[in-house]
Amino acid sequence: MRIVVIRNLPEPAVALLRTAGEVHVCERDRALDPADLRRAVAGADAVVAMLGDRVDAAFADAAGPQLKVVANVAVGYDNVDVPELTGRGVTVTNTPGVLTDATADLAFALVLMATRRLGEGERLIRSGTPWFFHLGFMLGTGLQGKTLGIIGLGGIGQAVARRARAFGMRIAYSGRRRAAAAVEAELDARFLPQDELLRESDVISLHCPLTEQTRHLIDAAALAAMKPSAVLVNTSRGPVVDEAALAAALRAGRIAAAGLDVFEEEPAVHPELLELDNAVLLPHLGSATEETRTAMAELAARNVVGVLTGNGPVTPVAA
Ligand code: DGY
Repeated sequence: MRIVVIRNLPEPAVALLRTAGEVHVCERDRALDPADLRRAVAGADAVVAMLGDRVDAAFADAAGPQLKVVANVAVGYDNVDVPELTGRGVTVTNTPGVLTDATADLAFALVLMATRRLGEGERLIRSGTPWFFHLGFMLGTGLQGKTLGIIGLGGIGQAVARRARAFGMRIAYSGRRRAAAAVEAELDARFLPQDELLRESDVISLHCPLTEQTRHLIDAAALAAMKPSAVLVNTSRGPVVDEAALAAALRAGRIAAAGLDVFEEEPAVHPELLELDNAVLLPHLGSATEETRTAMAELAARNVVGVLTGNGPVTPVAA
């Protein structure tokens, strides 16, 4: 079996893949351009892909009819045309669960950074600007008693809600589906229509997948509905937020601050965001811990081995 790994992968995962076939690692950390990607996957039975790798009809054509599985090393799979691949009998898998805590930690770090102006404070010291302690100096806002509005109360959204509860926040959520009654009870979470959630929340954290329905879910109208004191945090996918509209809202003070780990044209960042002190910007670090990245790679490898050995995938994506 020919197993193609499109980017560098931690060695334990490569070792696992070797138990099921001949492994070809494209030793690089950046995405291949489309022509190189098509060349790399030609003749593959299995491909380990990452966000940034476009897995679509052209990819499947280039790989050939023997392609059996594409294992995406991410929980999100908006880079994969799942109906196209599954329609050809190719199993698509992702890596849910193993990155939940790391991503929730980072989302909450962004909540704290944005509400307490931590990036701004750090930049102030490093710039050598003179400063002294006084009662009105660099005031942020506290979290106790405030409402965290979560859009998408899946695994990561729930993990963020647990952290927020420990900070004394109230939880509201919206999304396509209502959470199980036990989850609502544990988090004391209120389900609200999205327009109410936007109006009522002090902090809004996005945890929905990127789909045609969620692209620009947070647009100028959604931003206008938020409180002027609201903080928006995005650790999901950049295009869920209209970045130009967000930059305009931040600049005009229509919302107070934003914490972003993901961007519409990643790795590019909207130039206006770079100029704003009330935008906290991180380079897609949600799952970036040693432990989590190793676990993600190993889960992807287990999915490939499961399919190639006939035991089935561990975490398949439903078509
Ligand atoms: C994911 O898994 O979808 C993240 O964005 C990358 O870890």
